[in-house]
Amino acid sequence: MAVEKYAVIGNPIEHSKSPLIHQAFAKQFNKVIGYEKVLAPLDGFDVTLQRLRAEGYLGANVTVPFKFEAFNACQALSARAQAAGAVNTLSFNEQYIAGDNTDGCGLVNDILQHQHTLLAGKKVLLLGAGGAAQGVMLPLLQQKPSHLTVANRSVDKAQAMLDKFSSHAVSSETILQVKTFVDLSLAYDIVINATSAGLTDSSLQLPVDIFQANTLAYDMMYGRETPFMQQARAAGAHVADGLGMLVEQAAEAFYLWHGLRPETAPVIQSFRQS
Ligand code: ATR
Repeated sequence: MAVEKYAVIGNPIEHSKSPLIHQAFAKQFNKVIGYEKVLAPLDGFDVTLQRLRAEGYLGANVTVPFKFEAFNACQALSARAQAAGAVNTLSFNEQYIAGDNTDGCGLVNDILQHQHTLLAGKKVLLLGAGGAAQGVMLPLLQQKPSHLTVANRSVDKAQAMLDKFSSHAVSSETILQVKTFVDLSLAYDIVINATSAGLTDSSLQLPVDIFQANTLAYDMMYGRETPFMQQARAAGAHVADGLGMLVEQAAEAFYLWHGLRPETAPVIQSFRQS
């Protein structure tokens, strides 16, 4: 039987850990799969997609900067992909391309399972209102936090994002609000950094009182200590990076493709050690 082929498409793509993660999952089930990194030209996402389909690939993960183009390429979209406005997991069949977004689910599963922190009934602060933030809004609301505050440098952008989710907030009975960083006044149980400020080593102007000793300060970035993580640590918060989210979003994609739920803890642990 031919080996099932999958890929991760991005630009750049060399740094991607997805092949190692998916191969580690496949090994848990004694499955042999192909999973490779595919560098698509910045103006060549659709052509790359057509090539992979023609070559018999069954699915692909999509990373920066193509998650919005992937969304537009799909003929079927899951509810969470629609809410995110972006797609990170594609499944191909002969007739059409189906798109899903496993990023938010990955974040929530990491917080619940590996950070041992419930979101239900908690005061949650989400920093940022770009693609990364929008991608996690629906899964966060589905956990029914008591508060979900979105703080962003440009408040208009945060308000526009929040407006899209107001009906979901009503059904989860969550108090949804927008703030600037300096206007934040509550102490939060969970603070999630979904800004890209860490990429430029920029600090966010956060009031120190948002962190308590038992606050989980979660940065969606991984691989380096960001200024956000340093600020939170200095304020006594418990700090986590986004490595667990990366592995958990991959586990959800693996489940979509193979119908199998891999063990994530040993994979996270092996990446931490290396
Ligand atoms: P991504 O897909 O990573 O979310 P994006 O859509 O460009 O990228 O969004 C970047 C987010 O990080 C935005 O919320 C941005 O704030 P603005 O909407 O005000 O631009 C935020 N961000 C990036 N650099 C920042 C910085 N130095 N300080 C504060 N916020 C920053």
